[in-house]
Amino acid sequence: MNEERVFSLRNPWFRTSVGGVIAFAIISILIGFVWLPSANRDFSGHGLWATICSAAGAPSSWYDAGSNLAGTAPSEVVVLPPHRERVDASSIGRGATLATQNCSMCHGVLGTVQVTAPALAGQYADAIYKELRDYQTGERVSAVMQPIIRNRSEQDLHDLAAYYASLQRAAPAESGASGEGLDANAVKLAMQGDPMRNIAPCAACHGQLDRKGAAPWLGGQSSIYLAAQMQRFATGERRNDINEQMRNIARHLTPDEIDGLAKYYAAQP
Ligand code: HEC
Ligand code: HEC
Repeated sequence: MNEERVFSLRNPWFRTSVGGVIAFAIISILIGFVWLPSANRDFSGHGLWATICSAAGAPSSWYDAGSNLAGTAPSEVVVLPPHRERVDASSIGRGATLATQNCSMCHGVLGTVQVTAPALAGQYADAIYKELRDYQTGERVSAVMQPIIRNRSEQDLHDLAAYYASLQRAAPAESGASGEGLDANAVKLAMQGDPMRNIAPCAACHGQLDRKGAAPWLGGQSSIYLAAQMQRFATGERRNDINEQMRNIARHLTPDEIDGLAKYYAAQP
């Protein structure tokens, strides 16, 4: 058989194989660029080049860490949970004095729930310390907290954290509306997460089941504060969570879920 006849459209084998390859390519393009992006949010919103790279398993840019990491670098202060028994009484005492003079008008006299600011009573000391550090360095932005904490010494931050951690947790900020049961979806997200959407159980980091990093206790905080923080993580406005632990979760939550979770935690002790 001569070569010209093999690569000729008159050869039915050639026609079939070329046609097959073209049809296969069209189907793959439709699946990869139309069907998958419409079925799963993770595929969309990053642009064509990023989609191709992620399909090939290669970073879309070797130098730029991506839009999520733009702006100030995330906090790299690694805070280890202190041994409670080593917190000395004089540190708590100094913290109490500082708190009464500088913090109580907003965070409450005994640290109990206020509408104006998150509750601090009974919060983990490492979580308070980390947030204060982040306000000081500007990793966490707040027009209110940053000037208050700017000139505080390292020892002040430890003392304030020790003081608030030594207080009793306040009663739940809000009780669920009467007659209304717990939001089943919020309970499921909190205790089991949603593996299909890469959402780990909140309770695995926030202290109900286990604790990771300097994750704060959420129970008893006002639902308005909790929802606002989740929204800020979702948009990337708050970016002081190490390794984007919270941003990766908040981004996958729908507004309804954020609302449900905020109400669920506000009603917890
Ligand atoms: C004028 C009111 C006000 C005063 C005074 C104030 N705070 Fe705050 N504080 C706030 C507000 C509002 C927030 C929430 C800011 C945000 O959204 O990031 C906050 C947040 C915090 C947080 C983060 C809590 C969390 O759960 O992430 C800590 C810790 C904190 N304040 C400690 C202090 C300490 C310690 C002092 C005293 C040295 C103090 N604050 C004084 C209003 C105040
Ligand atoms: C992988 C661990 C992890 C999981 C899972 C997790 N979080 Fe977090 N979360 C953190 C850490 C760490 C922080 C503190 C970030 C920082 O400021 O450094 C945080 C902070 C928060 C805050 C801000 C609290 C404050 O006082 O400022 C809220 C609200 C929150 N998480 C809600 C949730 C909810 C709701 C879920 C479940 C859907 C969840 N988190 C799951 C690790 C986690």
